[in-house]
Amino acid sequence: MQSQSVDAVEVCPLDAPLGAEIRGVDLSKPLDAAAQAAIVQAWHDNLGLLIRNQTLTDTQLIAFSKIFGELEMAPPNKSGSHWIEGYPELACISNITKDGQAIGSLGNGEAIWHTDMSFMEEPPTASLLYSLEVPSSGGGTHLLNMYKAYETLPDDLKKRIEGRVAVHDATYTSAGEVRKKFADFVGTTDPEKAPGARHPLVRVHPATGRKALYLGRRSGASNVLGEADTALWDALWAHCTEGDLAWGHDWAVGDLLIWDNRCLMHYRESFDNGERRMMHRTQTKGEAPIAA
Ligand code: SIN
Repeated sequence: MQSQSVDAVEVCPLDAPLGAEIRGVDLSKPLDAAAQAAIVQAWHDNLGLLIRNQTLTDTQLIAFSKIFGELEMAPPNKSGSHWIEGYPELACISNITKDGQAIGSLGNGEAIWHTDMSFMEEPPTASLLYSLEVPSSGGGTHLLNMYKAYETLPDDLKKRIEGRVAVHDATYTSAGEVRKKFADFVGTTDPEKAPGARHPLVRVHPATGRKALYLGRRSGASNVLGEADTALWDALWAHCTEGDLAWGHDWAVGDLLIWDNRCLMHYRESFDNGERRMMHRTQTKGEAPIAA
């Protein structure tokens, strides 16, 4: 099968604080090296990419995902097995149940602003989310530009977070569920005692050299280490989520959304549980955040 060349790749930046749509490619077919490089470059330049109207098998989704790096195995389901038999790299994000069992994670509720798995020492870099079933309304995914969040911080806040570290409490998921392994930490309020990685508040993206604010998620005992209260943490979150730094996507079947956890946060709207939503997700292997 002939590979698609770089001439096919059309990068259309969105009129938004981040993001570009990639047009002209069929991801079920191979892309030559220059076409792959152009897509990765567009991702670095625009932080998030949307590629519409794709018809991908799980194998094809995995093959395309590898242009962003080596793949991470997906977190196992509640019974410790893979979400999708034969595809350990794939996570299923869904509210659908089969024989009384959830076929995926996150249900139908809101998933608060977060970056994927920041409680890990080496959180995943790219996340690729491919839609197989979508509700008629709700369930949109929003991305927030954390380079801009850093760049637009008032100078006094920039100074206060210089060289500082935050605790990324592992106890809860972004859907508010307790991670089984960390159940003993429920109710912990002292960030020093919370489980999870300690990461710099300002990180440098290794490919772009740009500085991004890195907050993880606002749950459990997450906070800036060494702060007696959450005033600084609250001010950082207010700056990010109350500014004009985000773009939201309403899904159609066959959309692929790709985001960079090193410089974006994301949020998922809730939707009616009487409707079905099913996404397959891959992630690339993580790296320890580089302190600015
Ligand atoms: C996620 O938070 O990783 C999932 C986002 C979504 O379901 O849109």
